[in-house]
Amino acid sequence: MGGRGRVEPNPMVGCVIVRDGQVIGEGFHAAFGGPHAEPTALSASTQSPRGATAYVTLEPCCHTNKKTPPCVPTLIEAGITRVVIGCLDPNPNVNGAGVRMLRDASIEVDRVPDGLGAECRQLIAPFLVRQQFQRPYVTMKWAQTADGKVAGHEGMRLQISGDRANAFVHTLRARSDAIVVGINTVLTDDPVLTVRGVPAVRTPERVIIDRKLRTPNDCRLVRTALQLPTVVVTSLTAPSTNFEPLVERGVRVVWPPAQREDVLLAALAAGDWVQKPYSHVLVEPGPTLANAFFKAGLCDRLWVIHNSRSIEDASAPTAATVPDWFAKTGELSLGADTLIEYLNVQSAGYHATVPSADFTLAQDLK
Ligand SMILES: NC(=O)c1ccc[n+]([C@@H]2O[C@H](COP(=O)([O-])OP(=O)(O)OC[C@H]3O[C@@H](n4cnc5c(N)ncnc54)[C@H](OP(=O)(O)O)[C@@H]3O)[C@@H](O)[C@H]2O)c1
Ligand SMILES: [Zn+2]
Repeated sequence: MGGRGRVEPNPMVGCVIVRDGQVIGEGFHAAFGGPHAEPTALSASTQSPRGATAYVTLEPCCHTNKKTPPCVPTLIEAGITRVVIGCLDPNPNVNGAGVRMLRDASIEVDRVPDGLGAECRQLIAPFLVRQQFQRPYVTMKWAQTADGKVAGHEGMRLQISGDRANAFVHTLRARSDAIVVGINTVLTDDPVLTVRGVPAVRTPERVIIDRKLRTPNDCRLVRTALQLPTVVVTSLTAPSTNFEPLVERGVRVVWPPAQREDVLLAALAAGDWVQKPYSHVLVEPGPTLANAFFKAGLCDRLWVIHNSRSIEDASAPTAATVPDWFAKTGELSLGADTLIEYLNVQSAGYHATVPSADFTLAQDLK
């Protein structure tokens, strides 16, 4: 898990070398382009790995068209005699070929039990979703009061969560490729959507979903667009007069191709046709956008922060209802807030009802 936010678009991978029932080396893939988990664990071994077993969360790689040398020959040369893998690598360059190459070298290869295998797949769910469906992993997050409100009187901005919960949210922002909001949130809250108070592992693009191109030229997102990447995803029917002023201020304005009119998908793919593909997208929606993502089946994971305060104002907008098909995977108390994590069991990004790596690592901040 130590590589989260740094390894993408690669998956997080961990490896443990065991000899005579004793762990002699551990390693993980820490950063994109850097050494993989297996050579890291081998070099960290306190004893010779000859005759040892390597436990790896993902099938070791065997292809050469990449930044680092393949791990299978390294395991063979190190004298490893058994490899236990968490799951197969869906990358077409590997996908079973790593296992075959190990077996050809007379190394025993075993799989972990099914339940553990599902947990290994959940660990790399964003990688699997990208490999199989060419889309990013999508997390939604919102905060709500004890009486289920997400903003103040008539939708006015209201700071609901406390400092500790906010720090958690910033760790999630810091490992995301994009932070997505709906146009109403821009109009009411004027957010800046930056990573604050935690190490910035990545610089997320800030994405506004705005079909009618109503993003104000003087909002904070636009005013900072020359310093921080900012994208407005609109539709072909938006007034063209609003286009130029945004572009002049450094905003990239994109829209879905005519044959694919879904702006939600366009927002998730914004990197695809503009820059690099997104691996992980964080949506910070109001109730309208949250329901749209639920309806489109485009949310893989949900973080809801519950504050213990009620505001008792009928004009305040009410949070979206968490759909029945979201399974709770974690709950964490943070002062006056409780963070609850859910996974969408109907999504292609679901493999096991276990807390995500982001949730587990956020716990360490406590
Ligand atoms: N507590 C929290 O965590 C939190 C987080 C965010 C916001 N908020 C609050 O939520 C309120 C705003 O929420 P909201 O629900 O009104 O707005 P929103 O979710 O910010 O944006 C909704 C807008 O997105 C646009 N949109 C684009 N594509 C869409 C699609 N496929 N389906 C639906 N909408 C689409 C629509 O505007 P167009 O038709 O013009 O495109 C729609 O009105 C504010 O009061 C804000 O303070 C709270
Ligand atoms: Zn490798």
